[in-house]
Amino acid sequence: MWTMPKNHEATSMRDLLCASIDRSMTGSVVTVCGWVAKRREHGEHLAFLDVRDRSGIVQAVVDGSVDVRSEYVVRITGTVSGRPEGTVNDRLATGAIELSDCTVEILAAAEPPPFQLDDRNDIDEQVRLRYRFLDIRREKMQRNLRLRAAVNATLRRAMDAQGFCEVETPLLWAPTPEGAREFVVPSRLHPGEFYVLPQSPQIAKQLLMVGGFDRYYQIARCLRDEDLRADRQFEFTQLDLEASFVTQDDILAFVAEAVLDAAEAATGVRPGTIGSMTWAEALDLYGTDKPDLRFAMVLQDLSAAFANTEVKAFSAPTVKALRVPGGASFSRSKLDQLTEQAKSLGAKGLAWFRITEDGIDSPLARFLNEEETRVIARVDDAQVGDIVLCVADEYTLACKVLGTLRGALGSPPVSEGPHHYVWITEFPMFEGIDEDGHLMAAHHPFTMPHPDDLDLIETDPLKVRSQAYDLVLNGWELGSGSVRIHRADIQSRIFKALGISDEEADNRFGFLLGAFKYGAPPHAGFAFGIDRLVAIFAGEENIREVIAYPKTQSGNDLMTGAPKDITDRQKRDLRIKIAAKGS
Ligand code: AMO
Repeated sequence: MWTMPKNHEATSMRDLLCASIDRSMTGSVVTVCGWVAKRREHGEHLAFLDVRDRSGIVQAVVDGSVDVRSEYVVRITGTVSGRPEGTVNDRLATGAIELSDCTVEILAAAEPPPFQLDDRNDIDEQVRLRYRFLDIRREKMQRNLRLRAAVNATLRRAMDAQGFCEVETPLLWAPTPEGAREFVVPSRLHPGEFYVLPQSPQIAKQLLMVGGFDRYYQIARCLRDEDLRADRQFEFTQLDLEASFVTQDDILAFVAEAVLDAAEAATGVRPGTIGSMTWAEALDLYGTDKPDLRFAMVLQDLSAAFANTEVKAFSAPTVKALRVPGGASFSRSKLDQLTEQAKSLGAKGLAWFRITEDGIDSPLARFLNEEETRVIARVDDAQVGDIVLCVADEYTLACKVLGTLRGALGSPPVSEGPHHYVWITEFPMFEGIDEDGHLMAAHHPFTMPHPDDLDLIETDPLKVRSQAYDLVLNGWELGSGSVRIHRADIQSRIFKALGISDEEADNRFGFLLGAFKYGAPPHAGFAFGIDRLVAIFAGEENIREVIAYPKTQSGNDLMTGAPKDITDRQKRDLRIKIAAKGS
């Protein structure tokens, strides 16, 4: 695991950091600065202070009359001494020593904090976020944010070493094609006109390729006004990159180098080569494009065995099965709950078969013929004590429903298990049809179709594979990218398929398409979420835990009170009038 470096950081006010004091310094007089983490009285005349700075804690023995309490900011000078026999604390890095004969200077008094700043996990998150400046004094948050800084530094080094040039792109920008709702910023100088905060530097980086920066990267802040979840914030950070004169394989190699370096910095172990599977394989075997490969439970296809079945529930184009080890012990209410979950995902139902000593136990067992019974009993080498779950439906739906149940039943906590990276390649170009009957881009409209499928764009578009790829880690989508279209003829065929008229294309992306007329190199790129990567490294289920000042699920910043009203003057300047609710 990554551990906090022990820096001996002298300043004009201190000699070193609390946790860097050790036995070898016994007898030296040192000065430290920090917060009083704890005070314990020792008899009438002495008190023990745990003094905390960013490195950790050291114990100081002070005169009992010194008037300091929890979270006072102090500067303490004392002599490094071995602790008396029997008082050594093995759980503390500095547990064998203490500072004695101390003089204490109070740098700032402090009110009692609204919660104890130790490592307990049961503090109300609302309170933590309201007092985030105190919350981040806690060891866990210090660790997480410093881990994040270490990851960022490593990513920068990896990209610099690979010849990438860091370029900062604007935050006040025009709409980008990522597809989420955008944050809009009114212009004072141009009332009635708006900037848009970028969902990603997508267009800016493609323009950099036209501009001859053939290897660009940025640790980029992105903004999307979408529903917040454990792995989603309005503001998040990507390692964003783009390169020219490259193929998909080059991009995968650049990204892998950076991610594996970051993993090594964070965990101390460099993961092996990142494997890959196509999107179609991922759907077939795991029922998702974000497979968690920490556990097996691969979906099985029983369609052939049930092709001519008499069982009504199974007469569907596809029958998919999932073996859940040990699942025979699931209660009826658990099975009902799984069935409800399957239905909420669009399935007509969920069939289950307990594998017992006496054969298959299921309401459907008596309807199965001999061959079907044999097939079910042997799904994925089923053993007594397992349960087999089946969904019969259209192929994609059956895969996705069982894929979701697989994740729900099998995924270990984020903090557990090895880190399993996998590339998912050959995503479909289009992902269905929107309300207006137009195809929808699966990635974004500048993604290059697979060269073998160009002829299908007009004839069988849903079969067109793209040169888009994702990086997945333990069931989380870490990042996405694609080879871009740099040829005007292919671009206009894609816009047409998406129902984007020439006028709309010109309006939305005119400056990009216009720039492409001046010599666009073949290019491709990628971006991955640093918040997500660091959360997994830190073993955190929610990216809020690796962000200094995150928003709540409902989009509030509890510390500043944002979002909030602005002054009438500001509204006048911006010519903003708030319409009555419902108008
Ligand atoms: P995409 O939209 O897939 O691709 O985003 C890339 C990665 O950014 C992270 N991410 C988020 N993290 C936290 N909160 C969010 N709201 C959020 N949204 C996205 C995820 C995701 O995988 N421009 C393209 C990349 C490219 O084609 O080069 C893009 O942004 O980890």
